[in-house]
Amino acid sequence: MDHQRNKSQLTAINQTMPTNSLQYTVVTTADGSNTIFHPLVKENYHSKNGALQESNHVFLNSGLRYYLADKNITELTILEVGFGTGLNFLLTQDYSTAKELNLTYVGLEAYPLSVTLLEQTNYQELVSRATWNTFISNYNQVLKEPIQLNSYCNLQIVHADARVYKTDLKFDVIYFDAFASSNQPELWTKEFIQHIINLLKTGGVFVTYAITGDLKRIMKSLGMKVEKAPGAAGKREMLRAVKI
Ligand SMILES: C[S@@+](CC[C@H](N)C(=O)[O-])C[C@H]1O[C@@H](n2cnc3c(N)ncnc32)[C@H](O)[C@@H]1O
Repeated sequence: MDHQRNKSQLTAINQTMPTNSLQYTVVTTADGSNTIFHPLVKENYHSKNGALQESNHVFLNSGLRYYLADKNITELTILEVGFGTGLNFLLTQDYSTAKELNLTYVGLEAYPLSVTLLEQTNYQELVSRATWNTFISNYNQVLKEPIQLNSYCNLQIVHADARVYKTDLKFDVIYFDAFASSNQPELWTKEFIQHIINLLKTGGVFVTYAITGDLKRIMKSLGMKVEKAPGAAGKREMLRAVKI
């Protein structure tokens, strides 16, 4: 991680420019699924090697399915840092609804994308019609309050800086999907990771697409059991950490 820069490009950019005036671009990735390119951060919301494969591999398979593997549960709470396009949520809702799991999903997002932009992702082609329709038709309201999208899924997108998020909820799984540490070092500090790990239940699982020596050291110093898992396409490894 690059901790040399002490001011995030995104924070600096958004102090001066509202996100609704930014020219986001829809980009097609290697597996044919789309992502968004942030014009000022100059980073995609997902891997160029495949947005869908990255979401499925890092968050669904290495995070959620890993957590569920040895459990027989009916209730599940997930926190996502960096909700963005909602792709991780959409895949999770499809999966958990099919499994009849009662899902409470909280996404933290400081700079929500517009419905118009979300519709251009074509993610409606990647999930069931019901999942897409309930998501897109409730999106603006979900930014203001939690909404029960179907009998199994409650979604809230907290429109706030993740660093000031407070809740009494504890989560089973945390999807950590911030921009890279070179662009947003403030979301990869020990202070912020500790803030997020405090929201994880004992036995809960934290996953992210990246792995670095700094991140492993931070996790270990917080008492987490760190695992190097195989990475998504184009990355050798990713980080999974379990709260013990
Ligand atoms: C890599 S993208 C997330 C991709 C997203 N999970 C998806 O599936 O589209 C990082 C996200 O973090 C958001 N973000 C940046 N700084 C933030 C902050 N301080 N608090 C909350 N969200 C932030 C960005 O606006 C962006 O949506």
